[in-house]
Amino acid sequence: MKKILVLNGPNLNLLGKREINIYGEKSLTEIEDYTNTKLKSKQVELDWYQSNHEGELVQKIQEFHNGSHDALIINPAGYSHTSVAIYDAMKICTKPIIEVHLSNIFAREEFRQTLLTARAASKIMSGLGKDAYYLAAISEL
Ligand code: DQA
Repeated sequence: MKKILVLNGPNLNLLGKREINIYGEKSLTEIEDYTNTKLKSKQVELDWYQSNHEGELVQKIQEFHNGSHDALIINPAGYSHTSVAIYDAMKICTKPIIEVHLSNIFAREEFRQTLLTARAASKIMSGLGKDAYYLAAISEL
């Protein structure tokens, strides 16, 4: 059984209430349930964590590096475009990192098209909506 840590960054706790036309109607908890249910018959288990704080995300990435999870799925949200600290933490990791974005960032504002953190990811996914986490997880099997 593979174990994957899922980290979600700022404002993703407001999914389902926030810009529904872009991010969809499901809350983060509903996406977690949806994803976990779809993965039931697969040899993979997800541990979910969300934080609005950059330092907490850095801490979790360091724990991932030193811990027993096989891979990391991360949606750094707004920090994707700005955070050298999250990028540096991701660079330290030697295990697979899949960066996901629910929306198609390339169809949006220009500032979203610079992805700092994605340079340290093994794979990136964008525009797959609520299926992003499921597809990222099975890509590791
Ligand atoms: C996002 C895209 C980011 O640009 C934005 O700041 C988010 C969510 C996405 O999942 O599409 O908060 O990472």
